[in-house]
Amino acid sequence: NSTRTMESDLRPTLFDFHGVSMTKYFTENWENVQNFQARPDDILIATYPKAGTTWISYILDLLYFEQKSERETIVPIYERVPFLEISIPSQPKGKDLADKLTTSPRLIKTHFPVQFVPKSFWEQKSRMICVMRNAKDLAVSYFHFNRMNHVQPEAGDWSVSHGSPCTVVSTVVFGSWYDHVNGWWEKKSTYSNLLVLFYEDLVEDPGRELDKLCHFLGLSPSSEKKERILSSAHFDNMKQNKMANYSTLPVMDQKVSPFMRKGKVGDWKNHFTVAQSEVFDEDYERKMKNSSVKFRDEI
Ligand code: A3P
Repeated sequence: NSTRTMESDLRPTLFDFHGVSMTKYFTENWENVQNFQARPDDILIATYPKAGTTWISYILDLLYFEQKSERETIVPIYERVPFLEISIPSQPKGKDLADKLTTSPRLIKTHFPVQFVPKSFWEQKSRMICVMRNAKDLAVSYFHFNRMNHVQPEAGDWSVSHGSPCTVVSTVVFGSWYDHVNGWWEKKSTYSNLLVLFYEDLVEDPGRELDKLCHFLGLSPSSEKKERILSSAHFDNMKQNKMANYSTLPVMDQKVSPFMRKGKVGDWKNHFTVAQSEVFDEDYERKMKNSSVKFRDEI
């Protein structure tokens, strides 16, 4: 039927783009994106897909613009925090949305590996916030996301081979999770305006992580305001919130899998077989042996 045809027409293929697996939806506007004019007060939210981008974006938006109440009713999160490199059919380009932002600061999202970030962000010394999430939960989240999002490549079959979860964090849009987290982590030593947070820490103690964020940004909101933000940004509330849950974006079929899916740490245990977990761990050990990023052992 026509819905299926439309869906398969949109599904892109992966190709190598400067050493990173990408699709046309994030490369077609490359020149314009690379020429983006950043400002010193811009805040770039830089994450690997499915690491908690929407969560931190929403927290930041509330921190700065909570008083602009019309945002909560008519401006979806992907317009408040434009996705810089996105260029998909029938939707405004992320770069154009970012250029149109009239707020200060401007909150901008990217999934680029560190070497793809437009140079003006570094020149302007814009602040950057990176959220990292453990690889196994991320693989599960990304797999379900590829199933429901028609502008992503086909998800494939999770159970087809023991190695398939490894593929979900290596040969996917925005390249290897390993390269991404290590690239961003290494940048911390030379670029002081970069804060790295972990999804697992946010789940464990959102108040503590909000304080870290505020400290980095030089903000000191009242405890009432912090309480309000933590409540609005709670998973259950974001899941119900049409401005935060992507339900207004037609390319996502939330009946296949909701964007706000589970929001848990350790869901990988419900998806990985023992054999898959072993193959994954071996691959992980090899690829992370020289890395100084520390994810929690107990996951
Ligand atoms: P799951 O698929 O594991 O549920 P991103 O925004 O980077 O695409 O990440 C999406 C993941 O973050 C999804 O993970 C989603 O449920 C989770 N998420 C979004 N908002 C959250 C919140 N307020 N609390 C916990 N997890 C959240």
